[in-house]
Amino acid sequence: MLKRYLLIQTLILATGVFMPAQSSTTLKDAYHGAFYIGVAINADQITGQDARGAKIVAEQFDSITPENALKWERVHPQPNTYDFSLSDQYVALGEKHHMFIVGHTLVWHSQTPDWVFQDTQGKPIRREALLTRLHDHIFTVVGRYKGRIQSWDVANEALNDDGTMRDSKWKQIIGDDYLIKAYQWTHEADPSAELNYNDYSLELPAKRQGAVELVKKLQAAGIKVAVVGVQGHDNLDWPSTASEDETIDVFAKLGVKVAITELDIDVLPAVESHTADISLHIKSDLRLNPYPKELPDAVQKDLARRYADLFGIFLKHRDVMSRVTLWGVTDADSWRNDWPVKGRTSYPLLWDRAGNPKLAYDAVIKASRQ
Ligand code: G3I
Repeated sequence: MLKRYLLIQTLILATGVFMPAQSSTTLKDAYHGAFYIGVAINADQITGQDARGAKIVAEQFDSITPENALKWERVHPQPNTYDFSLSDQYVALGEKHHMFIVGHTLVWHSQTPDWVFQDTQGKPIRREALLTRLHDHIFTVVGRYKGRIQSWDVANEALNDDGTMRDSKWKQIIGDDYLIKAYQWTHEADPSAELNYNDYSLELPAKRQGAVELVKKLQAAGIKVAVVGVQGHDNLDWPSTASEDETIDVFAKLGVKVAITELDIDVLPAVESHTADISLHIKSDLRLNPYPKELPDAVQKDLARRYADLFGIFLKHRDVMSRVTLWGVTDADSWRNDWPVKGRTSYPLLWDRAGNPKLAYDAVIKASRQ
């Protein structure tokens, strides 16, 4: 026993980082009183088919986001067909565990079926018709979970990286005020729900400025934006902790809370940096998948340090941070295995493919004590 203890101490001193997970606490307990610790959950975790993942979710997190279950294509696949079979289970799961339940997402350029924007002949519909569809969708979905989903990502990724408005079908057909309508209707459908704006790469100064202007525009229209969601699809070296720090400050000055809504940190070679644009597809190449079997210790430690550094920044801003949500449970669950290059072996989360907590998990727990 003593020998093992001495060995562990020697390793800690030699590496200067944390040992594999021996923590007796949980993420949600470690950050209790600072902010919620959330996780995006997939269909198998919602239904319990992935029992190992579901157990981690229930034990470690006090907030959940549906990775896909509430997207338009899932809940409203056909004009008069809503399918709430999975999202009902999602909300029931959150209630069972007394979690802070997030809705993701109502207006997005992606994962919205073509029929939404077309008439029966496949021709683009006009502004009033699309507004009616958006109104019905929001009232049906938000209304169904009134008082049960506490926080809605009303609009997702409405901005380009240069801060201008994305030229989505929503914008093309309705005009810029589609966002104002979406927020107003969400609020009418559930006045108690938080209204969020969610986007990636908000650490890019131009995009951040675009988000500031967007929030101000919504506020000027009388909308109470509660939270700006900084997604946090990060790399080992981007964004810098300084720019994360500044980004949180900039949004907090608008009188909103900040949430990190989709945190994951890629250790693989960045092919296209500073984006989480899911339309990006890069051809596979062995050099882009350097760790197909396991992550070398040195990189594992880099990842742990990086998580600790970021959580240090989040804690510094605890007065304005509402939540930090990881975008997936284990590395096997992550979308980053298939984006932007299909079939890579990625290591962006806090649990490994065997469901064991990684060094990064301990680093996050340890960061909570500083
Ligand atoms: O479940 C089906 C399966 O039945 C089918 O056989 C298979 C064939 O393609 O697809 C499966 O669905 C995929 C789904 O992920 C579940 O794995 C979809 O094709 C795929 O498009 C979907 O990707 C999701 C992506 O958003 C698009 O909706 C990712 O899981 C999800 O992590 C990702 O999340 C987004 C956020 O919503 C917004 N911010 C960026 C973030 C990452 O792209």
